[in-house]
Amino acid sequence: MNYSEKMLRDDALKGKTIVVTGGGSGLGKSMTTYFLELGANVVITSRNMEKLQSVKAELEAQTGGKVLPVQCDVRHYDQVEAMVQSSIKEFGSIDVLLNNAAGNFISPTERLSANAFDTIIDIVLKGTKNCTLAFGKHWIDKKETNKVVLNIVTTYAWTGSAYVVPSATAKAGVLAMTRSLAVEWAKYGMRFNAIAPGPFPTKGAWDRLLPGDLKEKFDLAKKVPLKRVGDHQELANLAAYLVSDFSSYLNGEVVTIDGGEWLKGAGQMNLLEEVPEQMWDMLEMMIRSKKNKS
Ligand code: HXC
Ligand code: NAP
Repeated sequence: MNYSEKMLRDDALKGKTIVVTGGGSGLGKSMTTYFLELGANVVITSRNMEKLQSVKAELEAQTGGKVLPVQCDVRHYDQVEAMVQSSIKEFGSIDVLLNNAAGNFISPTERLSANAFDTIIDIVLKGTKNCTLAFGKHWIDKKETNKVVLNIVTTYAWTGSAYVVPSATAKAGVLAMTRSLAVEWAKYGMRFNAIAPGPFPTKGAWDRLLPGDLKEKFDLAKKVPLKRVGDHQELANLAAYLVSDFSSYLNGEVVTIDGGEWLKGAGQMNLLEEVPEQMWDMLEMMIRSKKNKS
């Protein structure tokens, strides 16, 4: 057996319907794939409907599961409410909300416009708040219980990190929301947990955090005591456990899966201090040129 094998038993998520924000790419897509393999129905949401449609076709063919793609910008509460309604219309009820959608890029904070800072806060913190509030209110109103909210944060939610300050600020808020609602809404039959992944290569993250030759310059595997990056299946295994009934007594926890990275050197992007000031124009141009390509 090795770490890229699938962990839970067949049908472990049978009968569950799971909403994965940002489910059309990267880690969201990997978790979605495993949920489908374990028998769940999955609603995948993001801003890009074309991408979601193609992922639906790919994953339905690969797993035999059922995927509903819903276009929804998590920054807008009206779009989130509409997404809740279309999910319910298709599947009757929703059991799990996985807040995975995020926006991020590296930049010295003094180079950020107010709108650039807001954009990250709005996707990560306000987006998670919008989805959590919309589903939470619905479940409370309908008196539905045994519901799970799983939030994807990162280890700099508690260490902070230079050069990704809006993301660190927003993820810290998401972690506070996770722990707060774990207590407040337990009485309504909801559990709240979070995963803090270390480096798991995805196009979305790597284009924005390690543009150009930063990939070679800052080999993230070297920062990890275990000397490797994460495998998507390792994260999917953990997520599947946390949304399943096997974790019914786990509430208010953040599970770090980073090979020991943050303990070795807290502040994931602090290493960007080594980038000379004059390189930032070029790096910014490279990041901007990747817009809408992930
Ligand atoms: C400075 C920038 C910038 C950059 C954009 N902006 N890119 N400022 N440096 N590289 C500014 C813009 O000029 C604008 O401000 C504001 O930010 C909003 O930009 P838009 O392009 O209009 O926003 P939008 O189209 O909404 O795109 C959002 C985005 C984009 C976050 C900028 O990158 C995106 O769509 N990202 C989604 C996917 C993603 O980020 N995935 C990575 C997650 S990785 P002005 O003032 O000009 O209007 C992650 C990992 C954590 O979270 C830990 C990893 C180890
Ligand atoms: P990714 O592929 O870029 O995922 C981000 C997703 O969010 C995309 O599918 C994107 O879809 C969606 N999204 C962005 N803005 C949105 C908005 N306004 N409304 C709705 N959806 C939006 O990157 P990833 O690496 O898989 O990241 C997934 C999660 O893991 C994030 O929460 C990230 O912070 C976290 N994380 C990743 C790592 C890592 O090493 N990869 C480490 C720690 C934490 P559209 O562009 O189509 O909208």
